Amino acid sequence: MEFEQFVPESYPKDLLDKDWKERKCYCVKGRRDFLCLVHNMFVKNDDVWLVTLPKCGTTWMQELLWLVINNFDFNAAKSEHLEIRTPFLEFEYIVNEDLKTALRPIEMLTSPRLIKSHLPLPLLPAQLWSKLPKLIYVYRDPKDALISQYYFGRSMGFNMDKTLEQFLTEKIESRETECDFDHVTEFYFLRSQPWLYYTSFERMKMNLRQIIEDICQFLDRCISEEQMHQMLKHLSFEEMKANTKTNHIWEIEQVRAKHRLPYEDHSFVRKGKVGGFKEELSPEFISRVDSWINKHLMRYNVTLNDLLLLND
Ligand code: A3P
Repeated sequence: MEFEQFVPESYPKDLLDKDWKERKCYCVKGRRDFLCLVHNMFVKNDDVWLVTLPKCGTTWMQELLWLVINNFDFNAAKSEHLEIRTPFLEFEYIVNEDLKTALRPIEMLTSPRLIKSHLPLPLLPAQLWSKLPKLIYVYRDPKDALISQYYFGRSMGFNMDKTLEQFLTEKIESRETECDFDHVTEFYFLRSQPWLYYTSFERMKMNLRQIIEDICQFLDRCISEEQMHQMLKHLSFEEMKANTKTNHIWEIEQVRAKHRLPYEDHSFVRKGKVGGFKEELSPEFISRVDSWINKHLMRYNVTLNDLLLLND
């Protein structure tokens, strides 16, 4: 995939003490017009936005949020694909490359809308920073997230010519992946804002009940003990792995149909582990990736454990 640098029409004002001129953003070649469309899109005050880097537990949080917002309607959740109930902002354009229909899945939603995006803060709609609707951000150890990305890619026919180590080497040597540290730190430094709930995959694994309670409070929703019990069961790894509506089958089928590549089957909800990288990578390779992480985080004066909220 070819990338090019992209400079948005404007940057958020009074949000972060940052020299935006120094902030590099990259996009896949051919997506500039789409990013302009997103920059100017209409945001509703009662929208709920879920922003993450890929493979950080987005789907897990998305199902959680959708249920909280929709009064714990488990029957409705089980009868429609997650991606239709709560669209991925970039998806329609990735698949159909038509600006006229690119935002239709979002525009067709009834309020309150739950919208997922992987875009970095400066490329998200400009109205977010004036209207400040509720926004949730989830981060995950990049070692686990990148491994997850490798297998997810293979399930659509990408990365088939690469070993896991080759894939990771390319990632840690690319200027685009470097920007992931801007992606997360921008939200991390905003984490005490009342409109933002910042958490990590690791925190979700540690105490999902607490995260559900926090989210209910953040979104001004009540939850009974019975609903909590159902939530914990529905959101468990085993149930989500077996749930045909939370494994992105609808999206994956469209990507497979577009590219028609030979692929490997990996269920979307795959291993769901914290530290699964230890089973996949040699100690030498792990320390190489850790050095890359630490080198970049030094620029922001934070550690990986800070970003994962494991020091709180
Ligand atoms: P693995 O590939 O490491 O298993 P995203 O939704 O951001 O793409 O993240 C996908 C990752 O979240 C996958 O990680 C997937 O297994 C994991 N995941 C999804 N639902 C989960 C759940 N209920 N419990 C634990 N992990 C889950």
